[in-house]
Amino acid sequence: MASDAAQFTGSIPENYDEWLVPHLFDGYADDLARRVLALRPRTVLELAAGTGILSRKLRDGLPNDSDLVASDLNAPMLDIARTKFQPGESVRFEQVDAIDLKFADASFDAVACQFGIMFFPDKARSYTEVHRVLKPGGSYLFNVWDSWEQNPFAQIAHQVVETTFPNDPPGFYKVPFGYYDAGEIRKAVAKAGFSKVTVEHLPLTSPIASAANFAKGLVFGNPLQDEILARGGNPEAVCTQVEKAIERNLGTDLSLQALIVHAYKA
Ligand SMILES: C[S@@+](CC[C@H](N)C(=O)[O-])C[C@H]1O[C@@H](n2cnc3c(N)ncnc32)[C@H](O)[C@@H]1O
Repeated sequence: MASDAAQFTGSIPENYDEWLVPHLFDGYADDLARRVLALRPRTVLELAAGTGILSRKLRDGLPNDSDLVASDLNAPMLDIARTKFQPGESVRFEQVDAIDLKFADASFDAVACQFGIMFFPDKARSYTEVHRVLKPGGSYLFNVWDSWEQNPFAQIAHQVVETTFPNDPPGFYKVPFGYYDAGEIRKAVAKAGFSKVTVEHLPLTSPIASAANFAKGLVFGNPLQDEILARGGNPEAVCTQVEKAIERNLGTDLSLQALIVHAYKA
């Protein structure tokens, strides 16, 4: 069953798309799309597609007669993704849990997943499922965040909520930044049957256009706001503290780092 950290619903999808995507996800989507498109796939499945940042870039680069399925656990995320496409464009949106894929064996040339795997409750099963639905010779390309040390904004956001709720700090920021051991990932992916796995560390710099907007994304663009409310807290007040902490500690640019994984099915 999906954890609370995976509940991107309610007002979260809109806030996520407006305030978080430009700061955190756009640059990595460019990178992942480039890697997927270089394989010249005809059939592509995207998992945890969210509000469609990578889906849009994939569709832009794929030939018109190729198939793209953009899937996510949470339908409200896909509702935002849909708005980024014209009616005639060939993209199918499907509500799909990444640990239980509803596709036939050997259906896709490539599967892509941007910053989703950290939320999957059974990662081993998700890797096995992707291996099953890939055609022989197919590829799974995904990225995951590196540690807090390499993504200081996440540690800063966590420190604010830890100070606000010292007895029971919300744990959201431990989830997306808690799965970065390259050896462990390589082993888990290989165990699912992939014949070769490469892992690359990719640093990126992203301008902080507005500390206030970025803070909104960090508090209201993910399930942290629900964790704050569940503790009787005030998300607006936390957001102000996050904004101040960003201004104090980060300056004008964000230092980001992710692991980029390419798994090959023989
Ligand atoms: C940080 S967002 C990334 C979204 C998008 N890939 C992007 O780059 O903006 C994480 C996404 O994982 C999705 N998710 C969480 N658990 C999932 C699961 N078990 N199966 C599929 N998607 C899941 C969430 O709904 C959310 O859209």
